[in-house]
Amino acid sequence: MAEEVCHVLVCTNVDCKDRGSQDLLAALKARVAQEGLTDVVVKPYLCFGGCQHGPNIVLYPSKIWYAQVTLNDLDDIVAHLKGGPVVRRLTGKVDAATQELIFQLLDAGLF
Ligand code: FES
Repeated sequence: MAEEVCHVLVCTNVDCKDRGSQDLLAALKARVAQEGLTDVVVKPYLCFGGCQHGPNIVLYPSKIWYAQVTLNDLDDIVAHLKGGPVVRRLTGKVDAATQELIFQLLDAGLF
C-alpha cells in the first residue's frame, strides 16, 4: 500500500504573515527536505480563519492544528512529522467550530 502523504499547510495570509509565517514556511520546507521526509508536503494556505492565533499550521489528514507557531517550535514539529508525539502546547488554541470547518473544507479537497 502506498504511504499516506502528510500535508503541512502553512497560512500565509496577512495576519499570519505579519507574525512570520513566510519564514516558517521556508524553514519547514528546508527541514523536511533535509530530513528526507518524502511523505511530507509543505505548502502555503490562503487562510484558516483563526487569524488572531497565527501563525497557524494545519496537518492533514491527521487534522492537527498548530497555532502561535514560532521558529523555536520547528524542532518539535519536525520530530512529530518523523513519528514523534504531537506538540500539545501548540494545539487547542483555536475554537473547535473553526477547526471543524477547516477540516471539512480539507476533507472536501480544498487545499
Ligand atoms: S491569516 Fe492565518 S489564519 Fe487567517
